[in-house]
Amino acid sequence: MKRVVDQSITSHDATFSASLIHWQKQHGRHQLPWQQTRDAYRIWLSEIMLQQTQVSTVIPYYHRFLQQFPTVKTLAAAPVGQVMSLWAGLGYYTRARNLHRCAQVIARQHRGIFPDDVKSLAALPGIGPSTAAAITAFAYGTRAAILDGNVKRVLCRVFGVEGFPGSQAVERQLWQLAAGLLPERDIEAYTQGLMDLGATVCTRTKPRCDACPMQARCIAHATLRTAELPMRRTKKITPEKRSVMLWVTYEGELLLEQRPPIGIWGGLQSLPELERLGGNPEAADWFAEARTVLADMGEIAQLSVLPDFVHAFTHFRLRVTPLRITLARRHWLAAQDSYHWRAITALESAALPAPVRKLLQG
Ligand code: ADE
Repeated sequence: MKRVVDQSITSHDATFSASLIHWQKQHGRHQLPWQQTRDAYRIWLSEIMLQQTQVSTVIPYYHRFLQQFPTVKTLAAAPVGQVMSLWAGLGYYTRARNLHRCAQVIARQHRGIFPDDVKSLAALPGIGPSTAAAITAFAYGTRAAILDGNVKRVLCRVFGVEGFPGSQAVERQLWQLAAGLLPERDIEAYTQGLMDLGATVCTRTKPRCDACPMQARCIAHATLRTAELPMRRTKKITPEKRSVMLWVTYEGELLLEQRPPIGIWGGLQSLPELERLGGNPEAADWFAEARTVLADMGEIAQLSVLPDFVHAFTHFRLRVTPLRITLARRHWLAAQDSYHWRAITALESAALPAPVRKLLQG
């Protein structure tokens, strides 16, 4: 019988955390202002600021905030405008509004004390599961997995995780991996180590693999795929169909075609179309074809090609080239059943597809 090789990434890999903790103690960052405390308020404040902003930018803001609001209660009692103006320049201002709301919840509902479990923290405004884990790890030494963008990159590379890490399936896999890798002790150094490795060694471009404690076990390094992992979002390729629409007028009337009941724009009235086109036919072919299609309707006086417009359907894009045609004479007989003329002044009440109406109304 063929042996099934389990290709899934095994958790409970104690060597990963041991190497990381050892490396963090020797080469990691130890002097960041929020590392000198166990005060959950200060750690929370730093983690919110660090969510989308780099360390060097955060440091002066962090100090100014603490000077102005030394405790969560002083922050909660401040007018939101004061919080916003202190935040000005850091960007992503939803963070500041949530910071203030979160401070008020902590002050009013938690007696000013930050909860020490991930679930309660993650239920507060502005605190996602990764930030909640970082806060509990640094403030209370709780064993909890973080997974921000930097950590995703480290895990994807070291463990050769395929797929776009922003997708639900890959993200679920990464959370499982992150949880399985947690050490029994030293969670603070481990958590900081993951952050430090992602920020200073396993960078998005030009990673410093020579300085990396994971080099010997890193799948991306071994397979020369650090530039490929983590994988980027694959662009959805939506097929494009083409159409040529005939915008034909004669003395204040517009030629419309009743579309068949099934298919796109089923049952609506639209502009007549030339055969759905596969390739990229020459304009000269359109003119000839338009003349044939309109032979029963009248004689063409003028024909001009208008700029393409594109309409997105769920499963394809339709690129339409409108041909603006005026007739010199109209034949009254022998019109096709599905074609009819309609006064341009009465178009308001016609069942036109939205992009066609847009075209006609300029
Ligand atoms: N990024 C997110 N949290 C951080 C922290 N505590 N230290 C450094 N960078 C971080």
